[in-house]
Amino acid sequence: MFEKISDQLKKAKNIVFVTGAGISQESGIPTFRGKDGLWRKYDPMTLATIDAFYQNPKLVWEWYEERRQNILAANPNPGHKAIAELEQYKQVSVLTQNIDGLHQRAGSTNVYELHGSIITIKCTVCDFKDTITSNFTQLPPLCKCGNMLRPDVVWFGEALPQDIWKSAIEQSSSCDVMVVVGTSLAVSPANLLPVYAKQNGALMIEVNPDETPMSGTMDLSVRSSAAKTLPELISIVK
Ligand code: OAD
Repeated sequence: MFEKISDQLKKAKNIVFVTGAGISQESGIPTFRGKDGLWRKYDPMTLATIDAFYQNPKLVWEWYEERRQNILAANPNPGHKAIAELEQYKQVSVLTQNIDGLHQRAGSTNVYELHGSIITIKCTVCDFKDTITSNFTQLPPLCKCGNMLRPDVVWFGEALPQDIWKSAIEQSSSCDVMVVVGTSLAVSPANLLPVYAKQNGALMIEVNPDETPMSGTMDLSVRSSAAKTLPELISIVK
C-alpha cells in the first residue's frame, strides 16, 4: 500500500491527520453522507442549526442524546489506535471534524476538535461549560443561570472555535506529511486544511474508499477503510 512513499514516511518528522466521520464508521458510528449517512435520513436544518434549536430544543436535544449514548457505547477502532501509537515515533497532530472523542480515548494527545464535542455542554447565554457526566432529568437541560444548555458542537452557520482553527491552519501549513482520513471534504472551512498542507509541499495521503474533491492532488490515495489501512502505515514508520 505505502511502498511508493515509504522513504518519505520514514523521514517525516511532523505528521498531521485530518479526520472525519469515516474513521469512526468501523466503530459503529454512522457517517453523514454515505449510504446509511445521517443526512440521508435527517434534515440538518431541523437538527443542527441554532434556529432549529430555538424552534424545538427538546427535539434537537433528544437527537444529540441518542447519538451521545451511541458514541459512549462505541470503542476506538484500529484506525484511531494506529494514529495514537504513531506518537511513539513521530510528532503527530489530529485535526478532527468528529465530535465523538474517540481519538482521545484511543490515546492521541494532540487532538484539535474543529466541530466541538458531544461530550461537553455549554450555556446559550453565560460562560458555563462542562463535561456531561450523567443523563439529564429533563430536556432541554437548564444552566444554573436559568437559560438553556446546548451541546458544545459547531452547528451549520456557526464559526469554528477560533483558537482551534488558528492552530489547525498552523499545523497544516507546517507539516511534512498530511493524511486525510474518512472525510468527504464537503464541509468548509475544514476542507481547506489539505490546501494549506499542499501549499507547504507536504506529502499528501488520502485514506478513503471513495474519491474526494482533493483526490487529484494526492501523492497517494488508498481506497480502503481506515481500520485496515492505518495500522499498515504505522508498521512502515516503526
Ligand atoms: P461525511 O459523511 O461527509 O464523509 C465520510 C467520508 O468517509 C466519506 O468520504 C466516505 O467515503 C468515507 N468513509 C466511509 N467509511 C470509511 C471507512 N471505514 N474508512 C475510511 N473512510 C470511510 O463525513 P465528514 O466528511 O466527516 O459537521 O463530514 C464533515 C461534517 O459534515 C461533519 O463534521 C458534520 C457534517 O455535517 C457538522 O455537523 C457541523
